[in-house]
Amino acid sequence: MSDKDEFEIVNEKIRARMDKIGRKIMIMSGKGGVGKTTVTVNLANELSAMGCKVGVLDTDLHGPNVAKMFGIEGASLMSNDGVTFLPVEVNENLKVISLSFALEDQDAPVIWRGSMKMGAIRQFLSDVEWGDLDYLLIDTPPGTGDEQLTVCQAIPELTGTIIVTTPQDVAVLDARKSVNFSRRMGVAIIGVIENMSGLVCPECKTEIPVFGKGGGKRMCEDMHVPFLGSVPMEIDLRIAEDKGVDFLTSQGSHPSAEALKKIANEINYGTACSTSRDTSFLGTPFCKPSACSSCTADCPSRKK
Ligand SMILES: Nc1ncnc2c1ncn2[C@@H]1O[C@H](COP(=O)(O)OP(=O)(O)OP(=O)(O)O)[C@@H](O)[C@H]1O
Ligand SMILES: [Mg+2]
Repeated sequence: MSDKDEFEIVNEKIRARMDKIGRKIMIMSGKGGVGKTTVTVNLANELSAMGCKVGVLDTDLHGPNVAKMFGIEGASLMSNDGVTFLPVEVNENLKVISLSFALEDQDAPVIWRGSMKMGAIRQFLSDVEWGDLDYLLIDTPPGTGDEQLTVCQAIPELTGTIIVTTPQDVAVLDARKSVNFSRRMGVAIIGVIENMSGLVCPECKTEIPVFGKGGGKRMCEDMHVPFLGSVPMEIDLRIAEDKGVDFLTSQGSHPSAEALKKIANEINYGTACSTSRDTSFLGTPFCKPSACSSCTADCPSRKK
């Protein structure tokens, strides 16, 4: 069989798996360390708490952090048939795949070229038993390279991208490239999140603009892309992630937790119901009547 035939067979398998998944969302940023994995993990926790079936795919092959932030470090890849893999369950609504599950030594570097990364990501999409999901959230490393390109090309019906940036000019400069990457790939931009938008002092609760404020929002206005919200920096969020506990349910009220919950809500209900912009790319809305009491949108949930 030629390489081309094999490539097409994998494409077919990916198509069959992706057909069972509602929304496939890639989380990306131009700059590293701005909070992509934080956003992915917290949105996944919140969406699963809302009752959605969520899968998380970690495509950051060189620095996989997803398992640690979910508190499932040390889990191993399992298989029922020796051919396909089972994702690791965080709870009954949430499953995860990461290369870290296949590494015996967590300190060992993954030294791979583009073609190997492409093969691994395609295998995660084709050979993992994702089952029926409402969401597949795909965490990526920084940039617009092999991993992002592979995801966009392997999943032609990708719902959209969420772009994460901090407010500072250097991060925004790189985030603009993520916006243009999405446009070039013909992928919808669900919205931009401004993370680390001010540091809330744990003592006096005043906000210190460590990376500035508003840079992400200004970029959205300038580039005409939706703004999903700002998430402040908080020490308790960082501690929860290092411990692998669910920040949004394990803690009391925090500005960053409130912001992340609001964004999850916006993605699950608000965007689907929004009449202020074209959200048709999101496909069938996941509106629940209880969340739609004040909404006048003509969506399937309201018709029920
Ligand atoms: N709002 C926040 N408040 C406090 N700490 C945060 C916040 N957002 C992210 N962090 C912390 O900042 C660090 C970087 O975040 P994260 O790993 O999510 O970024 P990333 O964009 O995924 O990085 P990479 O480019 O390496 O994949 C982590 O230690 C995380 O816990
Ligand atoms: Mg990351």
